[in-house]
Amino acid sequence: MTDKPVAIVTGGSRGIGAAIVKRLAKDGMHVVAVARNVDKLQAICDEVKAAGGSAEPVACDIADSAAVTKLIEDAFEKHGRLDVLVNNAGITKDGLILRMEDADFDTVINTNLKSAFVAIRSAARPMMRNKFGRIINISSVSGVIGNAGQANYAASKAGLIGLSKSVAKELASKGITCNCVAPGFITTDMTEVLPEAIKQGVLNFIPLKRFGSADEIAATVAFLASKEAAYITGQVICVDGGMAM
Ligand code: NAI
Repeated sequence: MTDKPVAIVTGGSRGIGAAIVKRLAKDGMHVVAVARNVDKLQAICDEVKAAGGSAEPVACDIADSAAVTKLIEDAFEKHGRLDVLVNNAGITKDGLILRMEDADFDTVINTNLKSAFVAIRSAARPMMRNKFGRIINISSVSGVIGNAGQANYAASKAGLIGLSKSVAKELASKGITCNCVAPGFITTDMTEVLPEAIKQGVLNFIPLKRFGSADEIAATVAFLASKEAAYITGQVICVDGGMAM
């Protein structure tokens, strides 16, 4: 049991997710950080503790529905409350539509979209009981404006937007908000692997002429997770240097 608000953050072992874990802990929450690799998660949680915060690592493959359900139920049983759910974990399996295999489509939809549905379904009940909840789904500008070579990824991220708006309408009367943050090009391991020519090409489409940082996404998530954001639900906040406008 904890007196602190409890937040679950998927994909918390690196990149944007790790930044969200650290930021929510800094804002006074106990954070359940989730990923497959518990060693990396442990390192992030140790960093949080060294800075005076509270976080615990939990290993879970979010593509496994039963495991996600158990993750949420266990966290609620252990802490007696669940205030914030951040569905951040995501993958890409890019390819042109003519060559995209069924498996590439299914894996990305399962990991990026279905996992969020399952997590929200499990989190809704404890949040309803407390008449408070903040659900934040990490979408992408690809889900807002599409992207060649990312039919599967963009579909999963656009799906998160429809999911979020529906959940927002369904759970509004219970004090629960549900929003999306749609990052543009953020410097992380996911984008680091792209060829330099592609990165330069992307810069041409960013009015603010730079890539974003994981901390900038975490700051937006922290705001949506806060009490100050009580009147915002069903929205998609693009944090993208103006890329998708
Ligand atoms: P990343 O690849 O650096 O980290 C992804 C995280 O998700 C890792 O912690 C990984 O362990 C976890 N993860 C992946 N599959 C998992 C599974 N099956 N079970 C449990 N954990 C799993 O990615 P990054 O860049 O930090 O992205 C985070 C989110 O932001 C993703 O949803 C991504 O689609 C989204 N995003 C990222 C952008 C960028 O420019 N980096 C742009 C737009 C959206």
